[in-house]
Amino acid sequence: MNNKNDTAKKFGASINFDSFLYKFDIIGSLIHIKGLYKCGVLTHSELKIISNGLKSILKKIDNNNIKFELSDEDIHMNIEKILCKEIGNELAGKLHTGRSRNDQIALDLHLYLRQEILNIIEKIRLVQMSIIIQAENNIDVILPGYTHLQRAIPIRLSHHLLSYFFMFQRDIEKFINNWQEINIMPLGSGALAGSGYDIDRNYMSKLLKFQNIYDNSMDAVSNRDFIINFLFCSSMLMMHLSRMSEELIIWNSQEFNFVNLHSDHCTGSSMMPQKNNPDILELIRGKTGRVYGSLMGILTVFKSLPMTYNKDIQEDKEGLIDTLNTITKSLNIFKDIIKLAQFNANNMQQATINGFMESTQIANYLVSKGMPFRLAYDKVKEIIHYCIKNNKKFKDLSIEEYNKISPLIDNAIYSKIDIKSIVESYISEGGTSIKSVKKQIEKAKVQIENTKNFVSNKSIKINIKI
Ligand code: ARG
Repeated sequence: MNNKNDTAKKFGASINFDSFLYKFDIIGSLIHIKGLYKCGVLTHSELKIISNGLKSILKKIDNNNIKFELSDEDIHMNIEKILCKEIGNELAGKLHTGRSRNDQIALDLHLYLRQEILNIIEKIRLVQMSIIIQAENNIDVILPGYTHLQRAIPIRLSHHLLSYFFMFQRDIEKFINNWQEINIMPLGSGALAGSGYDIDRNYMSKLLKFQNIYDNSMDAVSNRDFIINFLFCSSMLMMHLSRMSEELIIWNSQEFNFVNLHSDHCTGSSMMPQKNNPDILELIRGKTGRVYGSLMGILTVFKSLPMTYNKDIQEDKEGLIDTLNTITKSLNIFKDIIKLAQFNANNMQQATINGFMESTQIANYLVSKGMPFRLAYDKVKEIIHYCIKNNKKFKDLSIEEYNKISPLIDNAIYSKIDIKSIVESYISEGGTSIKSVKKQIEKAKVQIENTKNFVSNKSIKINIKI
């Protein structure tokens, strides 16, 4: 190999970032040779020898006894070369009959991601579990609910936490859809036009536990929508993680002091001894960027790409692997952060005292006395101005003071503006009253159970015996 060729070979090789596919590549080959045997291309003894050779290679790679060669370009060529050494060129040379690396890599990626997505779904479920536990443990804790990061209406902490549960539930549903889209087999599509042999694709699909086969060989070899969609689902997931991280970072600040993060998840400053920085949450927030980057990267690779396989497509792997690693690690640690966080009920309660959060309640009270809401809204504004001017809170005003603004107000106002009773007044389904929150928790638990069943059923189904 002269230097120029060597440089080009190195540039074109993918073995440094596709060897993680080895197991699925071998499984795919084992099923491919069964297909070849079924349509008469291989004899039974050839099938056996090739199959044993592949299985022995799998063991060797598992035990770290194989060194891949850059000169063999990718995982597919590497394994074929090793098979030659294992069972001789003549038989090993039959493995690739009627197949191309184009349908081979497509198959490997389908098999790999179909399994990995189940792990991701399970990890999101564990984050959801830690949210439910905190929601149940803190069911009576009340804090200000915010809009525009301004105190708006008092709510239950559990209500606030559960909003993230349902956000993550949408992520799970998206990954489940993504999983269904991956459960289709590209093998038997050849380079682009199909296989030149009468290979039974449905038979191979059943053995590989796929739901279906691709209807069009050109689509099969050039499609990476399922990876793009995976990166989109991951981006959405990271965006959600970053939102909850940000919230906890704010709550952990001295200004808010609503939560104490576990010391495992904070770091001191090298210079300022008083610091306790929420590094891990900041990192999760920061890692969102690289996942978005991978999504943008692959979308751009596929923009205007003509049919069918083009080498550009080899760029699908690094962003995928990086994203899988990033979301796996982020979910693992995020689950612990939620589990070990200690919410400061007193400070939260204290924060509900200032901010005139009883305003909507007073307006509703005036409405109940027959006043149109718009007018009631203006009256409450007047009361607030009066309070600010006189440095008072709603509860400090006498009935006489209230009556100067509206004669409709009587003694019942004081129980109405009690913070707990305000929270309890939000009785609509999905609201923050105890009944509504308990209902949300019940629903959440059903969803947790459904997810658990999905993951375990599908894991059993795709467990391919070799
Ligand atoms: N290493 C290639 C990839 O990852 C495999 C497919 C190569 N096909 C080809 N015709 N060069 O995309």
